[in-house]
Amino acid sequence: MDSPLTNRTTAPLGSSASGAVDTSTKLDQLLDTLHAYRPTFKLTPQQNLLFIAFLFPSILLYLINNRYQKSKQKQPSLPSKPTTATSTASEKQSLRDRAPGTWRPSSYLFPKPPSYPSWSFENTKPLPYRPFRYGPIYHTTMGLRTIKPEDWIELDNQYAKYHGTKAFRIAERRDKCIMVAPEAAAASVELLQELVAYLPERYPTLFKRTERGIENLWSGESFDVSSLTGTGPEEEAVEQGCKAMEIAARLIQDDLILMIERADNQYYLLAGAALLPGFWRLTQKFGMSLAELHTSGDVPQYKEKLHKGMYNLFRRLKPEQMVGRNNYFIQVDDSLAWSWSIGPEDGDGEISWSMAEKNKAVEHHYFRSERQTLRRLPKTGAVCFTIRTYFEPIKAISEEEYAPGRLASAIRSWGNHVAKYKGMERYGEVLLEFLDKKHQEQVDRGLDLSREDECRAYPF
Ligand code: HEM
Repeated sequence: MDSPLTNRTTAPLGSSASGAVDTSTKLDQLLDTLHAYRPTFKLTPQQNLLFIAFLFPSILLYLINNRYQKSKQKQPSLPSKPTTATSTASEKQSLRDRAPGTWRPSSYLFPKPPSYPSWSFENTKPLPYRPFRYGPIYHTTMGLRTIKPEDWIELDNQYAKYHGTKAFRIAERRDKCIMVAPEAAAASVELLQELVAYLPERYPTLFKRTERGIENLWSGESFDVSSLTGTGPEEEAVEQGCKAMEIAARLIQDDLILMIERADNQYYLLAGAALLPGFWRLTQKFGMSLAELHTSGDVPQYKEKLHKGMYNLFRRLKPEQMVGRNNYFIQVDDSLAWSWSIGPEDGDGEISWSMAEKNKAVEHHYFRSERQTLRRLPKTGAVCFTIRTYFEPIKAISEEEYAPGRLASAIRSWGNHVAKYKGMERYGEVLLEFLDKKHQEQVDRGLDLSREDECRAYPF
């Protein structure tokens, strides 16, 4: 006998080869499948009604659940479980119960990373972070996502430029860019030790582990880190801490900050190697609490939208977890280390967008984006904040599909406070005119705007 089931012609749900089936395709498949299952015997009108009454709520529930699962996947949140669970139960307990400003060393070992796939000093391009979203409304959020341990530090074919700029600035202005408080000296050494263990595993063609430290195979630098402890008489400990931060900064492209909890429950900036900060001075921010760091810079909606979440994040962050975020700015000069357009790097004079020349030609407009990560160092409990700056001419990124249209929409969505903070009044007119023109050219060439979500995943 010909069973109704043998009539089925459509593939079962979820068997798409690409795995990326959109909701309407799924609906079609679902309807096809149900159609194929329809029995050949005739139903009475009442049975038909019952069938429909059951069928449509089921489809609706399926679609709602599908949407919900998708949106859940997009939520950036701390992992509910640690990425590598090597802390003992009693250590986890002590994380919750510890007194403010105290830390019991954890036995957690940062996992050995696999080597970076096909990494090359010449050919690995900077990751193209484009963390701006379409309007109409700009939402101020922490914007965190989980970072895998192996992705802690990103290096690419810009290494030589960053290394050279950092070396120059260390020679010119070490004391203003590298600062360590006595409380943070041991943590600075711990940070260096973590990098010395991580880098040769992740980038074996660039770094080699030596008996006493690490060697940079490209620059020929060899660092002996074996005698650094960051302990002992205060002056000596601080000197060792600075040495450690300096070596750490020379090894990678990122700037480095250590935040340490004090007995008042607040986190303070107590160590830093800020060699490419762009628009803030370490000498002014050193020693500030997390809240002061942000309120002193008038970060938009800090108190209303960020403070509580950041406070909780810092307090609860475990050594097994790592989070990251990306931001972006427009800069109207080509200087990676310090944006001189908004004021001089030295002194206590004002740094403000009001100093910048208005409506400079678009050739002077640059896209500046930071990839920041946060992790807690297991031995000292200091929270390590890495800041990797990506820097490209606006003209270059405007050649990428979708980028000019989306960036223009994002800029228009900023709102007064964000626009003021990001200096829109100084460059907005010129930049928006340019971005609109580039976007129109892309649309005229046939850019399919409905496909944008398929082509990118935030923050790219
Ligand atoms: C979860 C952690 C953090 C979040 C969510 C956060 C958020 C922000 C935001 C929204 C801004 C405005 C610019 C932007 O869009 O990025 C900002 C600026 C800034 N943040 Fe943070 N931040 C965090 C951690 C830190 C840490 C650990 C430091 C320590 C140095 C820091 C120092 C600064 C400074 C110096 C500025 C510039 C302020 C100015 O314009 O003077 N932030 N932060």
